[in-house]
Amino acid sequence: MARILGALTTSHVPAIGGALARGAQDEPYWKPFFDGFKPVRAWLDEVKPDVAVVFYNDHGLNFFLDKLPTFAVGAAKQYVNEDEGWGIPSLPPIPGIPELSWAIIERLVASDFDVTTCQEMLVDHAFTLPLKLFWPETFQTIVTVPVCINTVQFPLPSAKRCIALGREIGEAVAAWNSDKKVVMVGSGGLSHQLEGERAGFINKPFDLAFMRSLIDDPEWAAQYTIPQLVEKTGTQGVELLMWLAARAAVPGAVREVHRNYHIPISNTAAGTMAMAAKDLIATE
Ligand code: DHB
Ligand code: FE
Repeated sequence: MARILGALTTSHVPAIGGALARGAQDEPYWKPFFDGFKPVRAWLDEVKPDVAVVFYNDHGLNFFLDKLPTFAVGAAKQYVNEDEGWGIPSLPPIPGIPELSWAIIERLVASDFDVTTCQEMLVDHAFTLPLKLFWPETFQTIVTVPVCINTVQFPLPSAKRCIALGREIGEAVAAWNSDKKVVMVGSGGLSHQLEGERAGFINKPFDLAFMRSLIDDPEWAAQYTIPQLVEKTGTQGVELLMWLAARAAVPGAVREVHRNYHIPISNTAAGTMAMAAKDLIATE
């Protein structure tokens, strides 16, 4: 059976791609952010995942306001990254693993999640930046399943629903007849709002409570409605739904490997976490 190693979460501000391309990781502005990945990479070097299930939100590259699924799952041999206009270098196509994609899709549909199935899917910065951050040299050796959650066009799925989605995906992965090691990735957040009167809004106490809850009480955020989450974290802060789904996809308790939180990157409170699955603790 496939083995779920744990969950990785990170913010995905596009300017990170520019900093990586310029080699600016040690500049004073960027260092507190990039240093947060070093202990995570050391852990990844130890546990060596083969597959990443990436929970992310498309920002208009693949889906636009004319057609916007609540949940979409990629089922392609590869995913093409295209220029979104941020001035960041695009990546060569990222390999997929259709066998696992279909196992996930079949389980989701059988358990009443009406997902959109994508045999072609462009992936944007929210998908590619976590790969570059967690595996700067080796990201192309990881095969992926993209899971896209709408945070762009209202109505958005509730925190409770995203947790249920994550949990079902975790079950599908655990039941997959394979010796592969799988890591869940959640891309987005933390608090930020890019437009309107509250542009620049950041809520550090909420972000810190949310990060803690992923370890101690992973359903804590489900007490909030989507409008309440927007109020607390900003219009784009609601991307924390990806963190919730990725955490929920790891069955049972987790151990915190590392956490980093830094304000600001662009207009965003940038957070990073790595959580190891409980069944891994005994064997580490
Ligand atoms: C920024 C943050 C995002 O989540 C995003 O998708 C685009 C831009 C930012 O803070 O610049
Ligand atoms: Fe975003």
